[in-house]
Amino acid sequence: MHKRIAVFLSGRGSNFQSILKQIKKGIIKAEISVVITDNPNAGALAITEKENISSEVIIRKDFKNIKAYNNYILKTIKKYKSDFIVLAGYLKIIGSNIVKAYKDKIINIHPALLPLFGGKGMYGINVHKAVLESGMKVSGVTVHFVDETYDTGTVIAQVAVKVENNDTPEELAHRILKCEHKIYPYVVKKLIDGKIKRKGRKVYIRP
Ligand code: GRF
Repeated sequence: MHKRIAVFLSGRGSNFQSILKQIKKGIIKAEISVVITDNPNAGALAITEKENISSEVIIRKDFKNIKAYNNYILKTIKKYKSDFIVLAGYLKIIGSNIVKAYKDKIINIHPALLPLFGGKGMYGINVHKAVLESGMKVSGVTVHFVDETYDTGTVIAQVAVKVENNDTPEELAHRILKCEHKIYPYVVKKLIDGKIKRKGRKVYIRP
C-alpha cells in the first residue's frame, strides 16, 4: 500500500506541483491524500481540481476557538488516512495536537538558511528582502521537521544559493525556488522510504 501524504498550502503550489510530478513518475511511491488550505483562492486549487485530488478549505474564523479548529484539521487528515504531512507554502501555525499525532512526520520548506531569516512574518518576498538587507553572501533552502512554532524544527536538509551583487529580492527568490523544486521532492521521497532518522537535533539521511 502506498503511503498517503496530506499537503498543506496557502498559495500557488509550485512545490506541491514538483512533488506531484515525481509521484506521477513513480519516483516518490506515495499518493496525495488531500490538500488542505486556509485560502479559498489558493492557485493550487486549480491543480487539485485538474488532477482530481481531494481538497479541503479550512478557515480559522469558521470555528469558535483555536482548539476546535485544530481538532477539525486533525480529524480531516485522519479521515483521508494520511501518513505524512507536507507543508508547501502554508502560512498558518500547526496545532500541537497535530504535531504530537504526527511526530517526525511533518515537514516544511523555507526559502532561507534557518535558523536565520525565519519566524513570524518571514515568508514570501520578506525573507529575500531581509537577506539582501543583511548583506549576507549566501542564502538558500531549508527543509525541516515541524514543531509548534514557526521555522524552529530540526533541520533535515539545506542547500546554499549564492547572493549576487545586484540581486533584487525577486531574482534571489526565483533562483532559490528552482532549488526548492529539487530538494523538496528528494526529501519527501527519503521520508516516505523511511530513510530519514533523527537523533535530537541531528538528522541522518540514508542513501
Ligand atoms: C516557497 O518559497 C516555500 O519555501 C515557502 O513558501 C513558498 C511556497 O511557494 N514555504 P509555492 O506555493 O510552493 O510556489
